[in-house]
Amino acid sequence: MGTGTGGGRVPGLQELGMDMGEFRTPGLQELGMDMGEFRVPWLQELGPCSTLARAPELPFLVAPGPELELQYPGPAVEWCVRLRPDPTGHQKKRESWTRRAVLPAFAAALVYCYSKSHASKEDALLEAARINNVSEVDRLLLEGTDVNARHKLGWTALMVAAINRNSSVVKILLAAGADPNLGDEFNSVYETAKEKGLHSLEVLVTREDDFNNRLNNRASFKGCTALHYAVLADDYVTVKLLLDGGASPLQRNEMGHTPLDYARDGEVMKLLKASETKFQEEQRKRELEERRRFPLEQRLKEHIIGQENAIATVGAAIRRKENGWYDEEHPLVFLFLGSSGIGKTELAKQTAKYMHKDAKKVAKFIGSPPGYIGHEEGGQLTKKLKQCPNAVVLFDEVDKAHPDVLTIMLQLFDEGRLTDGKGKTIDCKDAIFIMTSNVASDEIAQHALQLRQEALEMSRNRIAENLDDVQLTDKITISKQFKENVIRPILKAHFRRDEFLGRINEIVYFLPFCHSELIQLVSKELSFWAKRAKVRHNITLVWDREVMDVLADGYNLHYGARSIKHEVERRVVNQLAAAYEQDLLPRGCTLRITVDDSDKQLLKTKDSSSPEEEEKKAPTLRLEIVEKDSKSRKLDIQAPVSPDEISFML
Ligand SMILES: Nc1ncnc2c1ncn2[C@@H]1O[C@H](COP(=O)(O)OP(=O)(O)O)[C@@H](O)[C@H]1O
Ligand SMILES: [Mg+2]
Repeated sequence: MGTGTGGGRVPGLQELGMDMGEFRTPGLQELGMDMGEFRVPWLQELGPCSTLARAPELPFLVAPGPELELQYPGPAVEWCVRLRPDPTGHQKKRESWTRRAVLPAFAAALVYCYSKSHASKEDALLEAARINNVSEVDRLLLEGTDVNARHKLGWTALMVAAINRNSSVVKILLAAGADPNLGDEFNSVYETAKEKGLHSLEVLVTREDDFNNRLNNRASFKGCTALHYAVLADDYVTVKLLLDGGASPLQRNEMGHTPLDYARDGEVMKLLKASETKFQEEQRKRELEERRRFPLEQRLKEHIIGQENAIATVGAAIRRKENGWYDEEHPLVFLFLGSSGIGKTELAKQTAKYMHKDAKKVAKFIGSPPGYIGHEEGGQLTKKLKQCPNAVVLFDEVDKAHPDVLTIMLQLFDEGRLTDGKGKTIDCKDAIFIMTSNVASDEIAQHALQLRQEALEMSRNRIAENLDDVQLTDKITISKQFKENVIRPILKAHFRRDEFLGRINEIVYFLPFCHSELIQLVSKELSFWAKRAKVRHNITLVWDREVMDVLADGYNLHYGARSIKHEVERRVVNQLAAAYEQDLLPRGCTLRITVDDSDKQLLKTKDSSSPEEEEKKAPTLRLEIVEKDSKSRKLDIQAPVSPDEISFML
């Protein structure tokens, strides 16, 4: 078997612009087998001189002799004691070097080795998977051991079994529900040591003892799946099992590589290529089907209450883009307008989630802080857009940005590309930009309220009780005239550029909530707390219909949905917490929120009173325990925690 030569593709190399030449990284097996009796754990790591220089925490290690040379600091994996191209006698030399330098160091390192007592069933499963103890794996799974549990340094049993070519164990783990698409949380040795606050030698030895000792510990393994590891181990049977078990051949590790990137020429590579194509096709079909069954608007409505016009506008524009009916020379640009807390940022986030299924990615792309984009952030944006050209980019509260930022944005929107501080240009024609702003929000809110008032008068009797009412917002459409005569001049005055407004594809208007939407918001909030009460304290929480009306009255136009959240906390959760603290809530009880009897008539007369009076006479909410005979018993919650005495602060 040759040392360090061989064909095949290791993409990290090309990416790094290094010439692999004849020194191509030897495969895992080659290395392991080749090293025979003198293979020492973490030799690979210790070999390169530069590693020693970079790892001051290993000062006692002797630098290797001249016969060893640094391999490239490659992709996720390198196995790297490489000899200078001296074909004669090198094994001998290596052996002696190894014995001279590394063994004593290894002995020293053992001091740091933590004892391997398998404290938990999960640890035992990881170890059994590593040593291919099929019956033990079986037994532990039967006992209910969590098949997806991770080692304290980040990997799962499936990954251990895969890297060690234990295909029988892989089969059992998959059958027991092991997720083949989980990514390793183990970084490089040094990074992991830093993250976990451990000594790097401890991490090094643990990785080798508990996982595998043939990997390059300088490389990052973050995000490697069991399939990546099976491919690294060049184990056809395991690769096949994993693919059949639902492993995605398209999944990338944090270095951006798919399993195929690590495959050597041969059967494994052929198998991966075939399944990549199949998987892509299936994934496309699944997505198409999912979108057909569950259109974008539907999805957005699951998270956003009301704002139907906004949802429809965004949905239509995205559908045009997805189906190729759009201007391919420019990105899609939205401006979301409206007061605070009515779902602008939320809609942008949900759109991003829809476009990029991977929620983790979404989080990275959105949410730049206001006032952003100095040169530094501009650079970050180009970096992100380069990684993901069809990203959804959120410029939140764009009115607060520096005017220079608008210049950059104009370039983005107008030319479909962006040049960063270092003169690098990236393309962003495929991206979706969503800007949000509070500019003109008062005008929009007042106008909408006026329209709604008119509609309300026409259908006064249908309010609240009738689901049709939800449609009411649909009927309130902001007129073109209002947009042109009122809003556009405000925007122009603010952004000071016609061409900037000209490059916005859709200006989307968010309206204040109507009563039925407020009821939905209240219901969502109460349900949230009811779920918590159940999970945390086994308390069942129910409420009367009037309670929702009372809470909906806490709506404040300037704070939007946030004011409803606050109102629920102030008037209900505070009482719950006080009653709990005063030990008034037996576990397993049913609690009911009601409007105090003496205040009930306030609900009826409310309409006629002035706002100040209303504030004074807001009906009181009470907590009652529902007894077994369905009778209710009022709770006597002691002041000073009485919720109505706590001022409303935002
Ligand atoms: N239309 C809505 N439907 C459901 N929740 C909403 C809605 N609007 C706002 N919220 C909730 O209120 C909070 C603030 O909303 P956000 O979208 O950030 O407001 P803004 O319009 O100021 O960007 C979020 O927790 C969000 O979930
Ligand atoms: Mg916002």
